[in-house]
Amino acid sequence: MNKLSESTAVSLQADHCGTLALVTGCAGFIGSHLCGRLLDRGVSVVGVDSLTNYYDPALKHRNLDTIRHHPGFKFIGASIQELGPELVKQVDWIFHLAAQPGVRGSWGVDFGSYVTNNIVATQNLLEKASASISLKKFVYASSSSVYGDIDVEKVSEDHRTAPFSPYGVTKLAAEQLCSVYGSNFGLPVVALRFFTVYGPRQRPDMAFYRLVSAALNAREFPLYGDGSQQRDFTFVGDIVCALLLAAEADKVYGVFNIGGGHVVSMSDVIALVERLSGLPVRVVRKASQAGDVRRTSADVSKAHEQLGYVPKTSLESGLAAQIEQMSAITAL
Ligand code: UGA
Repeated sequence: MNKLSESTAVSLQADHCGTLALVTGCAGFIGSHLCGRLLDRGVSVVGVDSLTNYYDPALKHRNLDTIRHHPGFKFIGASIQELGPELVKQVDWIFHLAAQPGVRGSWGVDFGSYVTNNIVATQNLLEKASASISLKKFVYASSSSVYGDIDVEKVSEDHRTAPFSPYGVTKLAAEQLCSVYGSNFGLPVVALRFFTVYGPRQRPDMAFYRLVSAALNAREFPLYGDGSQQRDFTFVGDIVCALLLAAEADKVYGVFNIGGGHVVSMSDVIALVERLSGLPVRVVRKASQAGDVRRTSADVSKAHEQLGYVPKTSLESGLAAQIEQMSAITAL
């Protein structure tokens, strides 16, 4: 066990009395929101993040600033592979959000980091989790990208998986590893397939961040393709609700779609950003990108029936919240 994890495990044994959650990717967009919500609910959280430089680590430190001083939070700056097995053994819930994200960057030499951070790291965490006696739920953050291009109005979980990007291949492989550890060793696994998540603290490589940033700073927005591609955009607050529901649901396991309930084209999103911000967006057309699907659209009825999940945030109010947060930072 490395020293950092060992000392953390010891101090947690002393502190911890209620539910203890391990959140991987705690400094990221979704992870930092999840940690905040868990802490608000009185759950103790061990957050793990290796702070990779896929995007500016200063943004991850800013995310961490929202939680790092909470007495129920402990941060471990390490990769999953470096985590001590004793620490993993103690937790009640594992939320595995750490990943190498990004659909369009997963080609070429960068594929190695997708394999390491999405597949190898997940298998490593599953091994450690299998030794736990206290674990009640292992929630894996999967992705709509496991489906690839869809030929139905709304995709349900039993639709064939056929990723269209190397990124999607690694997310599906990790999801299947979760399933294998569940079926062989009884690991209590839930995989949530997130559909394009947006909201405050969104990753800077994603479309909404770039769009709002272009509007606020009078910069160009590179639009890939003709703008007719559609996404089932999902607000981060609804994603956090789904994560909590998945952890708390008794004897519920398996795969669930978590979508936002509104399928919108990029052209419509651009118009909405202009309307909500009151600023024009200078759009520059770029070629369609390899790996990008035409459309995503989630059937969330399984998540509704088994987890009680209902997306509650309209695109307009969720986007307004993201614009407000990004405006506040720009004004600093
Ligand atoms: C997003 C996340 O980045 C993935 O990590 C996640 O797994 C995936 O959602 C998912 O739902 O599974 P993506 O849908 O590509 O992937 O989300 P964005 O990066 O926000 O892109 C949305 C659309 O905007 C895409 O069609 C993309 O081509 C377009 N876009 C993006 C642009 O036109 N310009 C940009 O600068 C960025």
